Amino acid sequence: MALYCSCFWVTLVLFFGIWVVVFCDQDSFLSLTCGGAKNYVDSSKITWVSDDAFINIGNVTTIDYVEDSGTSSSSVPLRFFPESKRRNCYKLPVENISSVVLVRAQFMYKNYDGRWKPPAFLVSLGTAITSTVNLTNKDPWIEEFIWPVSKVTLLFCLHAIPEGGSPVISSLEVRPLPQGAYQSGMEDFPNKSLRKRFRINSGYTNGSLRYPTDPFDRVWDADQGYSPFHVSAGFYIPLGLNLSSLKESPPLEVLQTARVLAREDVLSYKLPLDTLGDYYIVLYFADILPVSASLDILINGVVQQSGFTITTSETSTLYFTQKGITSLDIALRRIKFYPQISAFEVYEIVDIPPGASSTTVSALQVIEQSTGLDLGWQDDPCFPTPWDHIDCEGSTITSLDLSDINLRSISPTFGDLLDLRILDLHNTSLSGAIENLGSMQHLEKLNLSFNQLTSFGSDLNSLVNLKILDLHNNSLQGMIPDGLGELENLHLLNLENNKLQGTIPLSLNRESLEVRTSGNLCLSFSEMACNDASLNPSNETPQFTIISNRKHTQHRRLAVILGAAGGAVFALLLISLSVLFYIKKRKTEATYNTNSGAEIDMRNWNAAKIFSYKEIKAATNNFKEVIGRGGFGSVYLGKLSDGKLVAVKVRFDRTQLGADSFINEVHLLSKIRHQNLVCLEGFCYESKQQILVYEYLPGGSLADHLHGSNSQKVSLSWVRRLKIAVDAAKGLDYLHNGSDPRIIHRDVKCSNILLDAQMNAKVCDFGLSKQVTRADATHVTTAVKGTAGYLDPEYYSTKQLTEKSDVYSFGVVLLELICGREPLSHSGSPDTFNLVLWAKPYLQASAFEMVDDSLKGTFDSESMRKAALVAVKSVERDASLRPTIAEVLAELKDAYSIQLSYLASMGHSG
Ligand SMILES: *[C@@H]1O[C@H](CO)[C@@H](O)[C@H](O)[C@H]1NC(C)=O
Ligand SMILES: *[C@@H]1O[C@H](CO)[C@@H](O)[C@H](O)[C@H]1NC(C)=O
Ligand SMILES: *[C@@H]1O[C@H](CO)[C@@H](O)[C@H](O)[C@H]1NC(C)=O
Ligand SMILES: *[C@@H]1O[C@H](CO)[C@@H](O)[C@H](O)[C@H]1NC(C)=O
Ligand SMILES: *[C@@H]1O[C@H](CO)[C@@H](O)[C@H](O)[C@H]1NC(C)=O
Ligand SMILES: *[C@@H]1O[C@H](CO)[C@@H](O)[C@H](O)[C@H]1NC(C)=O
Ligand SMILES: *[C@@H]1O[C@H](CO)[C@@H](O)[C@H](O)[C@H]1NC(C)=O
Ligand SMILES: *[C@@H]1O[C@H](CO)[C@@H](O)[C@H](O)[C@H]1NC(C)=O
Repeated sequence: MALYCSCFWVTLVLFFGIWVVVFCDQDSFLSLTCGGAKNYVDSSKITWVSDDAFINIGNVTTIDYVEDSGTSSSSVPLRFFPESKRRNCYKLPVENISSVVLVRAQFMYKNYDGRWKPPAFLVSLGTAITSTVNLTNKDPWIEEFIWPVSKVTLLFCLHAIPEGGSPVISSLEVRPLPQGAYQSGMEDFPNKSLRKRFRINSGYTNGSLRYPTDPFDRVWDADQGYSPFHVSAGFYIPLGLNLSSLKESPPLEVLQTARVLAREDVLSYKLPLDTLGDYYIVLYFADILPVSASLDILINGVVQQSGFTITTSETSTLYFTQKGITSLDIALRRIKFYPQISAFEVYEIVDIPPGASSTTVSALQVIEQSTGLDLGWQDDPCFPTPWDHIDCEGSTITSLDLSDINLRSISPTFGDLLDLRILDLHNTSLSGAIENLGSMQHLEKLNLSFNQLTSFGSDLNSLVNLKILDLHNNSLQGMIPDGLGELENLHLLNLENNKLQGTIPLSLNRESLEVRTSGNLCLSFSEMACNDASLNPSNETPQFTIISNRKHTQHRRLAVILGAAGGAVFALLLISLSVLFYIKKRKTEATYNTNSGAEIDMRNWNAAKIFSYKEIKAATNNFKEVIGRGGFGSVYLGKLSDGKLVAVKVRFDRTQLGADSFINEVHLLSKIRHQNLVCLEGFCYESKQQILVYEYLPGGSLADHLHGSNSQKVSLSWVRRLKIAVDAAKGLDYLHNGSDPRIIHRDVKCSNILLDAQMNAKVCDFGLSKQVTRADATHVTTAVKGTAGYLDPEYYSTKQLTEKSDVYSFGVVLLELICGREPLSHSGSPDTFNLVLWAKPYLQASAFEMVDDSLKGTFDSESMRKAALVAVKSVERDASLRPTIAEVLAELKDAYSIQLSYLASMGHSG
């Protein structure tokens, strides 16, 4: 539905001169009869439609409404909201961003429930609470707002207030307004909405005017209600006025009548405002006499404009703002000839609070998704009213309480809630280490009691503002870490009912801090009291991506080590590594020393060539051209002596674990050859340099093509996208099912899918064992374990890393191919920030309006349906419901061949 105004001007040459008439296409109006079942056309030829498509809550009823005059009675439908939901919202489409719309709502009680209890409730638009409706005072009640559009949907909500009764509404209208209207003179008030208080057609006494007289359907009221202040009569101004200077485009009929004061000095309108606030006033003048009248304009007794002149045959507008007033007196004092005024409008200025940052909203949506519950978290978290479980200060989220909800782990997205001061996760089934909280530098109170946490992790030390830390009733083991003593602001530390033992750090023994320790194994400030010799301080366990070898080969077996903690695992790791280090093979004699001193014999790395640092330097022209940056390090373009182009990855972090991981990667990669996996040409491990040399793919990454700047972007057709998806799925299928050992990629994303010159796709960056190194652990970023937007939500709650996590990430890639947008966007409305959450319901219903615009009309719908369904299944929250990569591949192949035959039938080529 187009809500912009497609108006056209018809110029009629009449007896009086030029008469310009604006016809406004009422198709651009949205007129909802709330609770109405039928569409109808009213006496002004406006089409009213049922509100069903714009809201899905509330009850409907019908009343017999007798007009005040008692002459006519009609049946009026209503929608009311008996359940005290915090937000009862209409989602109104407004296509034309950066335009201005008028929103008008009518509320009617008329004792529909026979209880004689008219309700009072709040009304909001977007993020702004705009007014309180009190049907005790007036019934029906009309509210009207002017709204600067910035998003494609506008939320109009009714909010119950305590003891206020059920909110009720009878009609809702949206009208586009002329571009730029009602913005002049508002410099002091950016980002405001206007709530209409008065719109007066001066000098007119015969009721109200609206559509079609006003093509924008504003209601202009007669002014006789403001006598006895008016001693003059209304005048009719001749036609032939030049209207084009008025941004607000008031109708000619409104300008044609005016109040003119012939004898007295002052013409005044005294207007009751009843609420203290800031107001915006627009005055309209049109010439009435062949003399230029001159006058002063006073508002509440103060001259705002002196010597204002009304020019012959001209119309003009004056704008004023008034801060902090409760009543309004607009007066025109004559200087020369007769003061006169044609119309005026008075608006209350309503603040529009800014929305929460998209990072925050997206993080919360992912958290909601990870709970598996519908927490009702929609639109903005803080405005107009905060979401359940959340407290805000302004648009900043300061408190989050998810207690008694089954979370199982603190996912990395919590780390994006940087401003949180209070976090309550008691009784949320958390286990393992406390993690992903290190970035919450403002956190003052952390309640993690009643969980199954076993270790403190390393994040707590960085929570410098922490005052209260409640860890009681967990399974914390070992000693209390020294680092807690560095939290200077801590005044309550509750460690009751854990399995802690040993000496309590002396730094915790201070007057300002209460430490509760009852119910542990043995805890004391005295070293003598407990024997802590058996305690194991290690909780740094590296993670591996290699999974157990199904085809048991004789000479090596790599253990699955998945984020578990403790000495046993650590020992197992050492064994696995030594097995790896001493793999004996033939041919080459290169021997390397890792930082740990372990000597590694690296003979026969299959096809991978060993380069010297000198060769690498020559090939890359001294590391001249950077072609990428990844978690591993920078990537340079190189040219081997035989002329072959290569991508040279130089590792920057050389921690001990990093060295091992390098060996691990080289060893793995040297064995893996598949047409859809980027091939390792060789490596260099010399003078502390760790360098990997890969084949160079000139086509760039899929991310460059889908989301890159325009210069990189080549519009990819649907068939091409399917081919890329099939290629990448083949590569992943080989990693999951064909390689030995099997490999979980863990960082599948568009930027890790590269294209060669023929646009064949190859997956890169696999086989990187992303151990948690000390340096990484202090960052609560997701970079270590994957990329925001592609993360498998279940992996974070269960910590069970399986191939299905790659399937999830690949599902996100498929959604990107279908929708042509990135997984996390930072514009538009909160509903659309997260690609998975946004696209899933549409695609599930085979509704393809979110398909990339550049694909529209070029795809076979069965092909699209197949791809969409497999994408949606791949991003199921429950990993067991996701298909395997082999199943995904089969569906994609089908979708690809369907599209090919569709193109053949259309006579196109791929
Ligand atoms: C509103 O509708 C719900 C379900 O449609 C019904 O259970 C409830 O009784 C209704 N409430 C009122 C006050 O009519
Ligand atoms: C509504 O109006 C009535 C009568 O003026 C008043 O008693 C009541 O407090 C008002 N309610 C609200 C919420 O403003
Ligand atoms: C949006 O409004 C502007 C100004 O009113 C108009 O020029 C433009 O064509 C409109 N855009 C659409 C898509 O209707
Ligand atoms: C007004 O809103 C826009 C968009 O929401 C924002 O970019 C801008 O900073 C706001 N201006 C002020 C002064 O708040
Ligand atoms: C007042 O308006 C009504 C219709 O709304 C019209 O029939 C009547 O003639 C008007 N009266 C005058 C004095 O213009
Ligand atoms: C009407 O006013 C505009 C701007 O005030 C001016 O540019 C235009 O020439 C005027 N048109 C006529 C017919 O006077
Ligand atoms: C923990 O939460 C569950 C619901 O998830 C609830 O049944 C149980 O009573 C809660 N336990 C405590 C100690 O609060
Ligand atoms: C943490 O939550 C538990 C369970 O509701 C409560 O008993 C305890 O008082 C809370 N801790 C603090 C410091 O508020």
